[in-house]
Amino acid sequence: MVMSMAFTYFFRDMQTLEMIRDHALQSLRSRQRIKIWDAGCAMGPEPYSLAILLRENVGYMYFRNVSILATDIDQSQQFEAIIAEGRYPRDQVERIPGEILDRYFFADESGETYQISEEIRKVVHFLRHDLLSLQPPAEQLDLILCKNVLLHFSQRERVEVFRMFHQALSVGGFLAVEQTQKLPEELKGLFVQVVSQVQLFQKI
Ligand SMILES: C[S@@+](CC[C@H](N)C(=O)[O-])C[C@H]1O[C@@H](n2cnc3c(N)ncnc32)[C@H](O)[C@@H]1O
Repeated sequence: MVMSMAFTYFFRDMQTLEMIRDHALQSLRSRQRIKIWDAGCAMGPEPYSLAILLRENVGYMYFRNVSILATDIDQSQQFEAIIAEGRYPRDQVERIPGEILDRYFFADESGETYQISEEIRKVVHFLRHDLLSLQPPAEQLDLILCKNVLLHFSQRERVEVFRMFHQALSVGGFLAVEQTQKLPEELKGLFVQVVSQVQLFQKI
């Protein structure tokens, strides 16, 4: 069984996703490619929600240029297979808005599981990665999403991980963390907070 520490669900924290759509996406539209890193992605509902949000808001041609690197320390060693298949039990998709479910998820014959459409699966790639290695798995990123992970770290580790995020982003790239996660005081010169109601930052 997958560890309970990996608790997650589709379209968790819709407010942050909407602010990414309204602020980050608008500003990233001028770029030729959008490279996203979802750090601490658990079994995939979060990177897949993000992929669907993007697909809903950009045309097909543009969506082909989106890639989402989904990483997790994944102590269960099961996430890669789960994310690659993109198949989830019915109780995990029940709260997804009906029109999104109809458009991007396909029920198996029994109706017990739903698989995400290939168009969405194609943009999400999983990699096992320990944030505390402090080695970013990619560079020149346009958006990093790291939610409900940093709270498990010490304050010193959090500062170092935020610094790694800063290093991995391109100038003007965005970072989103959970609402209760504040930017450490000593890093305030590295980012600007984009909106006051969620923890969405832009690299200066
Ligand atoms: C509560 S889940 C959050 C999932 C998703 N981001 C969300 O907000 O719904 C926390 C995830 O962080 C991962 N994690 C914990 N320590 C980590 C580390 N050092 N490096 C990478 N991932 C880690 C866990 O394996 C787990 O999947």
